[in-house]
Amino acid sequence: MKQIRHIISAMLAIVMIFSLAACTSGSQTAWMSSGTERKTENTTVPFVKTESDVESGTDETAKPSKSKVLVVYFSRTGEQYTVGVIDRGNTAIVAEMIAEKTGADLWEVLPVDDHYPMTYGALTDVAKREQNNKARPAYKGATPDLSGYETVFIGAPVWWGDWPMIMYTFFEQNSDALAGKKLIPFSTHEGSGLSGFDKKLGSTVPDATVGKGIAIRGNDAQKRQDSVRDSVNNWLIDLGF
Ligand SMILES: Cc1cc2nc3c(=O)[nH]c(=O)nc-3n(C[C@H](O)[C@H](O)[C@H](O)COP(=O)(O)O)c2cc1C
Repeated sequence: MKQIRHIISAMLAIVMIFSLAACTSGSQTAWMSSGTERKTENTTVPFVKTESDVESGTDETAKPSKSKVLVVYFSRTGEQYTVGVIDRGNTAIVAEMIAEKTGADLWEVLPVDDHYPMTYGALTDVAKREQNNKARPAYKGATPDLSGYETVFIGAPVWWGDWPMIMYTFFEQNSDALAGKKLIPFSTHEGSGLSGFDKKLGSTVPDATVGKGIAIRGNDAQKRQDSVRDSVNNWLIDLGF
């Protein structure tokens, strides 16, 4: 009997810990709130370059493989809107689904000095400031040789109704290398959809062709991956993959 009481107490403690963790997810529209700043290391995901690869200049995954398709993406871990603290970014999840289905190479845009806070409110403040200043934050490492790729999927979270400014750095620095290619945008968001990613990409890289994009809810990318994978696969089939 005593043992059973111990087991029940332990189970209750676990339930309480999970409930508290769930409460950390935002209840306000993320890009309207503010918070305190805390920096931690960015987390990389499978198939992408590691920080040590970049620092040592041996960016193996940035070398073109036989694939004619590349997925370039930016994504954040840490605290995100409606999902709490995540260790795999919403956009990263979608990027990996695209790569899995198309056999594409993956390349993650990482900030050169990771100045982005890991708390949600503070991140929205930094992102807003960058947008207001039309900042062009530098990204880490060499861009992969784009010449072998025919199609480049490009994805990011919607930040304040737009691409994160670091993506404009990528577009502008590689505008010539992206010319003549098919660029297909994708976003993760919490209500704003594709937010004109396609038009903005087209005007920043005018010599490329912009294909039909897709917008996925970040919360779904974390919590409803089967249905997101179906949507992504159907979209890819429509695109001819
Ligand atoms: C700085 C910031 C600004 C955001 N602005 C918007 C927005 O304008 N519209 C929207 O629908 N979601 C917005 N969001 C929510 C993110 O787009 C969404 O949580 C996304 O899935 C995060 O992806 P990630 O984990 O790949 O970074 C914003 C989030 C942050 C952190």
